Amino acid sequence: MTAPLRPGDPISVPVDLDQRSYEIVIGRGQLSTLGQRIAALRPGCKVAIVSDETVAKHYLAAAAASIQAAGLQSSTVVVPPGESSKSFSMLETVCENLIAARIERNDLVVALGGGVIGDLAGFAAAVVRRGLEYVQVPTTLLAQVDSSVGGKTAIDSRKGKNLVGAFHQPILVVADTALLDTLSEREFRAGYAEVVKYGLLGDLQFFEWLEQHWKDVFAGGPARGNMPAPREYAVLKSVQAKAAIVARDERETGDRMLLNLGHTFGHAFEAAAGFSDRLLHGEAIGLGMALAFEFSARRGLIPQAAAERVIRHLAAVGLPTHVSETAGPRPSLDTLMDLISQDKKVKRGALTFILVRGIGESFVTRDVDAAEVRAFLAEKLA
Ligand code: NAD
Ligand code: GLY
Repeated sequence: MTAPLRPGDPISVPVDLDQRSYEIVIGRGQLSTLGQRIAALRPGCKVAIVSDETVAKHYLAAAAASIQAAGLQSSTVVVPPGESSKSFSMLETVCENLIAARIERNDLVVALGGGVIGDLAGFAAAVVRRGLEYVQVPTTLLAQVDSSVGGKTAIDSRKGKNLVGAFHQPILVVADTALLDTLSEREFRAGYAEVVKYGLLGDLQFFEWLEQHWKDVFAGGPARGNMPAPREYAVLKSVQAKAAIVARDERETGDRMLLNLGHTFGHAFEAAAGFSDRLLHGEAIGLGMALAFEFSARRGLIPQAAAERVIRHLAAVGLPTHVSETAGPRPSLDTLMDLISQDKKVKRGALTFILVRGIGESFVTRDVDAAEVRAFLAEKLA
């Protein structure tokens, strides 16, 4: 990390991946620097901006103006907002538009949006002309702290989420935290679940800081003293944690699995809710992390008080921590167990869980019996 020289200056975090290394730039107002940053990296390239209708309404003109001001040509592809755009048909639309705009190997795709656009545009970039470079401009908190970093790109199959995709690293991430001002509180809160995740999986001190400062993170208040502003600090700590894990394990054969804390339980509830507005991804992860801590306590790995402390924080910010807090009909035990057994992390029939030995001390285990999970969930559903 390059420390900010003055409060408000951008912060830069490197992702160290040899020739695929890149920089994450964090700060309020950084969208206006997008064009000059791209021009410095790829002088004279043509740019195609992919966005969704909601984000385009707010930020497409500013992104295009910044690119034009840097002397670069740009075209745009705008798709409907929402998870349904991570589809084969929308991938085709984006690919055909990139080809029609004559985006070639030396040109660039810009993903301007949340995780849906990052995943869709990133995957289109991975496959058009066997691989175009792309830049992530994440506009949701979830995308700024998680999906824009690490190179996972994908669309959904009828059989499940993110089943068709590629590892394809961006060449730059520009996280303008001012863009989060237009995000709904519910979407911000869902993204915050991924912020807490970094504390819970590997950084007790960061979790303690969040317990004290989460209201300032939500409010987006100014910097004090030599510290970055609270929201920027939360994004910074999150991407530093993610960048370090991705640098160690780009292809998720080891440590990167820790980023799935809360996901085995969470995904089952998210899938049972049909990946709909009934339960946003981050909300499902909040619930999943509460369950992972309770399950760890049940196994004697942590004191019950540690699980209760985590649940207290998640509940304080308004994330669901109990199955009764999810909207719509409660899924049956059989449905949840079926979904857990189909989880991407299942390897030759063995369930994979991320459990904890303490707050900030997560580990991957395949030593979890389905019957034990079933008994635990039966109790939670009762
Ligand atoms: P999203 O992209 O659907 O954005 C949520 C909503 O907010 C959309 O309606 C969008 O139009 C709107 N929006 C976005 N930015 C806005 C802004 N600044 N102001 C106002 N409205 C704005 O959802 P998301 O939560 O960002 O991402 C979820 C997706 O990310 C899922 O598909 C998930 O699978 C994926 N994901 C990917 C990774 C990865 O590593 N690639 C990691 C986590 C999640
Ligand atoms: N969001 C999990 C990962 O990037 O690996």
